[in-house]
Amino acid sequence: MSKQVETVRRITAPEIRGRKGGDPIVTLTAYTAPMARILDQHCDILLVGDSLGMVVHGMPNTVGVTLDMMILHGQAVMRGSERALVVVDLPFGSYETSPEQAFASASRVLKETCAQAVKVEAGVTVAPTVKFLVDRGIPVMSHVGLLPQAVNADGKFRAKGRTPEEREQVLAAARASDEAGAFAIVVEGVDESLAPEITAAVMAPTIGIGASVACDGQVLVVDDLLGLFDWTPKFVRRYGNIKGVIDEAVSKYAADVRTRRFPAAAETYVLGGGKARQPRVAGGGERG
Ligand code: KIV
Repeated sequence: MSKQVETVRRITAPEIRGRKGGDPIVTLTAYTAPMARILDQHCDILLVGDSLGMVVHGMPNTVGVTLDMMILHGQAVMRGSERALVVVDLPFGSYETSPEQAFASASRVLKETCAQAVKVEAGVTVAPTVKFLVDRGIPVMSHVGLLPQAVNADGKFRAKGRTPEEREQVLAAARASDEAGAFAIVVEGVDESLAPEITAAVMAPTIGIGASVACDGQVLVVDDLLGLFDWTPKFVRRYGNIKGVIDEAVSKYAADVRTRRFPAAAETYVLGGGKARQPRVAGGGERG
C-alpha cells in the first residue's frame, strides 16, 4: 500500500477574510527562514513587514527599504514556512505613482516569492490602487492609522485619532480600503476607542497593533515581543528576553575563546587517526 502523504496547505487570504468576528487572527512579522520555521505553527499570518529595514538592517525608518529587499526576505520566509499565510509589504516608492506601478511591484513579489498577498499603507488616495490590484487577482491587506512610511510628512511616529478630523480620516481610509476589497486591514497606533469603531464599520477583519483588543486579530514585530531591543514601544508586551540570552551566551563564548577553552577536543576534526591536541589554557600551560 502506498504511504499516505499528508500535505500541509497554507491558510488563504479568503479564509482570513472569513474570520471576521471569529477566532482572533494571530499575526507576527517574520524576516528570515529560521524564524519563520518557529513562528509558522503558531501564527495565521506571517507578515514580511518593511519594518525589516529598522529591525534587521538598522535603518532609522522604513523609507529606505527597497522592493528587492522585500523580495529577498519574502523568499526566506516562504522557504521557512508551510502553513501560515505570508503577506509581503510593498515598500515606500513602489506603489504610490499609479495602480499600474503597484501592479508591477505586487506581481514581482507574488511571482518571485510565491507569497500569497501584499500589504500597502492605505490612506483614502490609495484605495483605487487597492481595487486595481484586487480586481487583477492580488489579495491586498491594507494598513491605516499610523503609517510608518509617512514619517517624514508626520515628523515622527505619532498615534492617530487625537482630533475628530483625524479620527474621521482614519475611519474613511479604513472604509475606502474595505470597499476596494482589502481582505484584512491593519490598524496601527490609534486611540483605543477608534479601533472598535473601525472594526464595526468594515467587513474585512481588522488586525491591531497599538490599537485595541477589540480588533479581529493582533500583530506585533516579533523582535519586540522577544525582547531583542532595550526599548520597546508602549503597545508591545515582552514575552521574552532574547537580548539577555544572547548577551549571556556570547559573553561565555568570548571568555572561552580568550582562555582557549573553545574549541575542545570533541569539537575538532581529527583526520587520519591522530590524537587531538589538548587545549592550552590561558597562561600557556597544557590542560589535560
Ligand atoms: O512593517 C511592519 O512590520 C508592519 C507591522 C508592524 C504592521 O507594517
